[in-house]
Amino acid sequence: MESRPKLLFLSLIFLASAAFSGAHIAEYDEYWKTKAELARMHAQKAYNPNPESVTRHFNQAVLKVLEKNDTRRGLRGQKKSGNEPCMATNPIDRCWRCNQNWEHHRKRLARCVKGFGRKTTGGKDGDFYVVTDPSDSDVINPKMGTLRYGVTRDRPLWIVFASNMVIRLTQELIVSSNKTVDGRGVNVRIIGGASFMIQYVHNVIIHNIHITDIKAGNGGLVRDSESHYGLRTRSDGDGISIFGSTNVWIDHVSLSNCTDGLIDAIQASTAITISNCHLTQHNDVMLFGASDAYSPDAVMQITVAFNHFGRGLIQRMPRCRWGFVHVVNNDYTHWMMYAVGGSKHPTIISQGNRYVAPPTQFAKEVTKRDYATEAEWKKWTWRSEGDLMQNGAFFRESGSSDKAKAQKSGFTTNDLIKAKPGSFVTRLTRYSGALDCFPNKPC
Ligand SMILES: *[C@@H]1O[C@H](CO)[C@@H](O)[C@H](O)[C@H]1NC(C)=O
Ligand SMILES: *[C@@H]1O[C@H](CO)[C@@H](O)[C@H](O)[C@H]1NC(C)=O
Ligand SMILES: *[C@@H]1O[C@H](CO)[C@@H](O)[C@H](O)[C@H]1NC(C)=O
Repeated sequence: MESRPKLLFLSLIFLASAAFSGAHIAEYDEYWKTKAELARMHAQKAYNPNPESVTRHFNQAVLKVLEKNDTRRGLRGQKKSGNEPCMATNPIDRCWRCNQNWEHHRKRLARCVKGFGRKTTGGKDGDFYVVTDPSDSDVINPKMGTLRYGVTRDRPLWIVFASNMVIRLTQELIVSSNKTVDGRGVNVRIIGGASFMIQYVHNVIIHNIHITDIKAGNGGLVRDSESHYGLRTRSDGDGISIFGSTNVWIDHVSLSNCTDGLIDAIQASTAITISNCHLTQHNDVMLFGASDAYSPDAVMQITVAFNHFGRGLIQRMPRCRWGFVHVVNNDYTHWMMYAVGGSKHPTIISQGNRYVAPPTQFAKEVTKRDYATEAEWKKWTWRSEGDLMQNGAFFRESGSSDKAKAQKSGFTTNDLIKAKPGSFVTRLTRYSGALDCFPNKPC
């Protein structure tokens, strides 16, 4: 079923409703309605009614890695490119990085994710697909060998790159279900063009690439699967946009200087882990939930772990609505306004992060609440535990310590397993961002 532009006018009426803002779908037709409905079912299924079991499991995994006396595996004579021994400093990395045969076991990565995205396997059950062509000239019938051809196939694929590449996307790159984009072993830069769009799909891994200077795409006809292309409106210029999607893992991605957000997760997306990323040069860094009016976002459960929020960042790391966000063992070395915030009673569990406040007096507070009186936000569950506060940083907690009430909001302090404290964060995040990996060497 191909879509035609003549219905654009009707569709714009649809777009006026808040529910579809940011969808960039010009014709919300049967095709998209079916996809949206399936996506909603996937989200319901992935939603975990006991989110603290996931935070506990995550924290236990970190403790376990750091308890074992540690660099043993790395010190076994395996060297990184320089003289440094391979040191996988956190449980996600420990699962694959120090294996010098990583290139022959790429799919092992699919076992390594922790946190809410832990069931993400990407293209594990599929063939490898090798990107050989960095061009993106035909977005309706992409050439075989391009990244766009790979991500729009209907079957699972593990997508790798033949060589170093700079890819300028001419329109949003609409990624279909059961895909891994794996940039290990080469230097892949998605730069200067349109963004990644993960829309109404499930099970996607984005790993080890750079995403920089992303701009809004103009819109037009764009393919989103083998059987369908359709008219898109102008895109926002996010680095990665997760829209109505489930089981997404973004790991070791370096993101900077995009027009809108670096990573947005909206429209009832859930079961997401964002880990080991290095984020720089940006204003609105991460948005989880785009509208106070959109209550289906209550299904959102997201882990933000081992990321380095670095130079030139201003705010939203992340900015949350409705859902449950575990912000754990991240290094916040730069912000200009605030780090973690939100509206519409999200649950935010901040554990074992390092927050280094900027020199400006008015920006020492880590947290920021929007659109609520103090009487209202006092009821939101925002917890800080084991966070390392530096340079005057402070986290304003809220939520009742009363167990019954806390349970109602989805979190009880009694369920807390202590996270590894913030003093370990520089170590846990030491290898954030895209890595230089070489064949036959630990990565
Ligand atoms: C871990 O190693 C340090 C020194 O490298 C040592 O002091 C410590 O006792 C070791 N801990 C365990 C549990 O082996
Ligand atoms: C993705 O893979 C799963 C597991 O094999 C399968 O059940 C599902 O239908 C696939 N999704 C799509 C859209 O093909
Ligand atoms: C950010 O991207 C814009 C183009 O979109 C470019 O002009 C600018 O120099 C970039 N800034 C940095 C700090 O890289």
